Amino acid sequence: MSKRIKIFDTTLRDGEQTPGVNLNVQEKLEIAKQLQKLGVDIMEAGFAIASPGDFEAIATIAREVKGVVVASLARAVEKDIDRAWEAVKEAENPRIHTFIATSDIHMKYKLKMTEEQVLERVAAMVKYAGKYCSDVEFSAEDASRTRPEFLYRVMEEAIKAGATVINIPDTVGYAVPEEFGRLIRGIRENVRGVEKVDISVHCHNDLGLAVANTLEAMRNGATQLECTVNGLGERAGNASLEEIVMGINTRKDFYGVSHGINTSQIYRTSKLVSGLTGVSVQPNKAIVGANAFTHESGIHQHGVLSEKSTYEIMTPESIGLSTNRMPLGKLSGRHAFEERLKELGYNGLAPAKIQQAFEKFKELADRKKVVTDRDIEALIGEKVTEIPEFFELDSFQVSSGKRVVATSTVSLKRKDTVVTEAATGDGPIDAAFNAIERAVGVSFVLEDYSLRAVTEGKDALGEVTVKISRDGRVFTGRGVSVDIIEASVKAYINAINRAISELGENILLQ
Ligand code: KIV
Ligand code: ZN
Repeated sequence: MSKRIKIFDTTLRDGEQTPGVNLNVQEKLEIAKQLQKLGVDIMEAGFAIASPGDFEAIATIAREVKGVVVASLARAVEKDIDRAWEAVKEAENPRIHTFIATSDIHMKYKLKMTEEQVLERVAAMVKYAGKYCSDVEFSAEDASRTRPEFLYRVMEEAIKAGATVINIPDTVGYAVPEEFGRLIRGIRENVRGVEKVDISVHCHNDLGLAVANTLEAMRNGATQLECTVNGLGERAGNASLEEIVMGINTRKDFYGVSHGINTSQIYRTSKLVSGLTGVSVQPNKAIVGANAFTHESGIHQHGVLSEKSTYEIMTPESIGLSTNRMPLGKLSGRHAFEERLKELGYNGLAPAKIQQAFEKFKELADRKKVVTDRDIEALIGEKVTEIPEFFELDSFQVSSGKRVVATSTVSLKRKDTVVTEAATGDGPIDAAFNAIERAVGVSFVLEDYSLRAVTEGKDALGEVTVKISRDGRVFTGRGVSVDIIEASVKAYINAINRAISELGENILLQ
């Protein structure tokens, strides 16, 4: 049986200390419910004395979220502890989490207290919290910059006074893995009574080492790991829950421990937290970033298509993503393109059609960084619907502006000849449509025109749909391009080709 590690989530407390984040009670409750589904062992729901809103959120979560320990933070002062207990007392499993700083810097400049005074306060306040609650966590703020011998004494006092968890925060993200691991081992080996309690760690990410420090602490005896979803938290944030958990899972050969997290809820939780906090996840963030399961280069795409483990150390499904992503771009080959067509349900396309679509795709990939599924669907929709191309777009030009009459010149290919016509109109699209009609030599009534972005971003593909009529019949055409005038021109020509194919080429002679 592997050792079971407890995951203590502080997204709702330290995570909410992320600059610019302010969650209301309902939002906190929604996140708390999701954390419960995720399977965290303990959730720190807030800092009860900090504000009435925080108090209400903790109390609401304590009442409504079951099957998990609900904690409130409290400084090591009676009024904080009273308020923390008021907030968590209705929880199925309440916890009071009290703390005081123990480093020389903090004691001298912030607390203006001596070591002896701090020791006395620790003992008194842990005991005070213990009168309310059987589960008391004690944290030595700035522990990683505290003299280890003093830290051992502090922790011994806390345990003697009844603490059930002792927490060693790297408050300012100063520690490095080997040294932090040594500190935890030192606590395990030098603090009397330590075997009766959980040793917890709480690492900040100022040097980008929060997860590494946390995992190294675990290897040296930490049994509770404090973390936040998406690594939110004060300054550079806290150790990220998803990175710790997926590190443990992916390298179970190395760490050999277990936890209670349902990893398939990770992605959903990350999305919820980034949505409600407004802090977006950087694309290259491990585990939950948009690129974490995205293979860009043709070589990688080919490898993953042959065998996922060539470039994937964990599966997207394991964090609740339906699949990896292989954005098609200019580096992608025909193999990846054809695979994507199949995935999108375009089976059995004639080789010529695939070739035609692939050429269009390459053209688009030169103009657009990432060609998405919707781009491909749009390309296929445009090219694969079999309408004879009586007219093909050769080139076009438009000029328009304020107090300028819009004019357009369009050249259409018909068999071996190119017909060029120019026209004016009410705006560039009307001018282009008029020029097309002149080149075709037939006029139509424009019944409807619609434009929508079929993909996201500034370089989105625009899809234009036009409906034109003649002799009481309506014909639809579609065109797709990153340039909306080009998409409009293509849609109009597409509709005209459809009209000719259904009404017959005779209309060109009328
Ligand atoms: O970083 C820190 O030291 C904390 C404590 C209050 C646990 O957040
Ligand atoms: Zn912290």
